[in-house]
Amino acid sequence: MIDRYAVIGNPIAHSKSPLIHSMFAAQTGQDISYEAILAPLDGFAATVERLRKEGYKGCNVTVPFKFEAYELVRELAERTPPAGAPTQRATNARAANTLKFHENFIDGDNTDGTGLVRNIERILGVSLHGKRILLIGAGGAAYGVALPLLLAEAHLFIANRTPEKADQFALHLGKLGHVVNVYNFPNEADRKQFDLIINATSAGLSNELPPLPADIFAPGALAYDMMYGRETPFMRFAREHGAQVADGLGMLVEQAAEAFYIWRGVRPDTAPIIAALRT
Ligand SMILES: NC(=O)c1ccc[n+]([C@@H]2O[C@H](COP(=O)([O-])OP(=O)(O)OC[C@H]3O[C@@H](n4cnc5c(N)ncnc54)[C@H](OP(=O)(O)O)[C@@H]3O)[C@@H](O)[C@H]2O)c1
Repeated sequence: MIDRYAVIGNPIAHSKSPLIHSMFAAQTGQDISYEAILAPLDGFAATVERLRKEGYKGCNVTVPFKFEAYELVRELAERTPPAGAPTQRATNARAANTLKFHENFIDGDNTDGTGLVRNIERILGVSLHGKRILLIGAGGAAYGVALPLLLAEAHLFIANRTPEKADQFALHLGKLGHVVNVYNFPNEADRKQFDLIINATSAGLSNELPPLPADIFAPGALAYDMMYGRETPFMRFAREHGAQVADGLGMLVEQAAEAFYIWRGVRPDTAPIIAALRT
């Protein structure tokens, strides 16, 4: 029987994950199906349970369920030790985007950080070492990428619309042994420029722009929006203020490739797939 996988989110109709995984399957000769599933905002755990009962092998998790996915795996692991657990990457992020189902337990991982770092360093050719990075957002995506960025030896600043969540995020990273600065924008007294600004907010979904000062981009800066599929106000703003701009399609393909590897033990070649999706 064909092995079934899915991505769970809300909203989910825009997701390119089914297309990407079908391209991976064709490229690597793996016999799988992959679909997008809309879960009610209060129905994530029930949706996972239904998929497990129906024999699915695993799922990806997207907005807004990544923190809940991590908690689900952690609680299940506590009830069924020693089997099943969040990986170190998921624990560091307190968020999971890749679940692998077993009969009595679930493994949970987080491939977002690996996906982002691979896309920026290998595909876009931008070294993160020593760069001043502003990471905007304090949701599942931001938590997923922060530690991998720090491990690439970048200087990380974080900012978020709700400042208390940025403080909690900094505290969390502090507990992991990393000092990060919270950047409250726009703050005239604390003007800074960054080499890389990553928009890890969902502001683009509602066509909104996080409140950024116009002179925030250092010369040659890269503005990276995790959203993909269209130019967001953040991307437009960055372009108008002299930054290079990238969307999140490359990250999407790279994090998906890492999930595919976790499930299937085969690593797809991502570059031709990113190129094909762009055309
Ligand atoms: N390309 C990829 O592979 C990839 C991977 C992961 C995520 N993403 C994208 O990344 C985005 C965030 O995902 P997530 O899982 O972190 O979502 P999430 O957990 O729901 O967090 C959303 C974040 O966006 C902020 N935000 C929402 N609307 C905003 C606005 N109008 N202005 C400023 N900040 C705003 C929230 O701030 P508050 O704390 O103030 O609410 C929060 O920090 C989504 O667009 C998702 O599609 C892409």
